[in-house]
Amino acid sequence: SEEDDGKVIEYLLKVLVVGDLGVGKTSLIQRYVHNIFNREYKATIGVDFAYKLIQISSNKVVRLQLWDIAGQERYGNMTRVYYREAVGAMVVFDLTRQNTLEAVKKWKADIDAKVRLQDANESPIPVILLANKCDMVQGSLNPSQLDAFCRENGFVKWYETSAKDNINVEESATYLVKKILETE
Ligand code: GTP
Ligand code: MG
Repeated sequence: SEEDDGKVIEYLLKVLVVGDLGVGKTSLIQRYVHNIFNREYKATIGVDFAYKLIQISSNKVVRLQLWDIAGQERYGNMTRVYYREAVGAMVVFDLTRQNTLEAVKKWKADIDAKVRLQDANESPIPVILLANKCDMVQGSLNPSQLDAFCRENGFVKWYETSAKDNINVEESATYLVKKILETE
């Protein structure tokens, strides 16, 4: 069988992580890749990279390449370059700052305008929405409202996350990878 012939299929997946300044993109990536959290804010300049190897099954491996794009880049001209050949994205907002949720629409529109899957329909890439810093708020989220927001804006799913308390960090990434592999 395929499982027994010893061949390992490796997928290289480029995933974007975007969202406004200080929402916690770098923190989520640091938690996911290195299982660490830093309280100090050090703004990302331009773009940073991180990698994670994920064993999907005995013969399937994903090499995830995370592009940690600085929040300030929304006002720059580089996103078209950064987005090239991405196959999925996470858009992050900060549950303590409503304006960062407003900005999510702009990030999503920017992605859809600048990168597409290479299928016949040039479909949008799968994008998940991360409502980060859930450790700081209690019950402020309205799930059905966010469900509607995702439908209206074309997100495949949303998660409440905390990079600080390690909530839904792995789960959300795993879900996105699964969605991406469905498109491959
Ligand atoms: P830019 O690089 O400027 O775009 O910001 P960023 O989105 O990468 O934000 P970053 O990860 O640097 O986090 C900003 C601040 O929020 C830091 O002080 C983090 O410690 C804090 N932070 C990030 N995630 C969480 C979280 O889940 N909970 C709490 N309480 N603080 C968080
Ligand atoms: Mg950053």
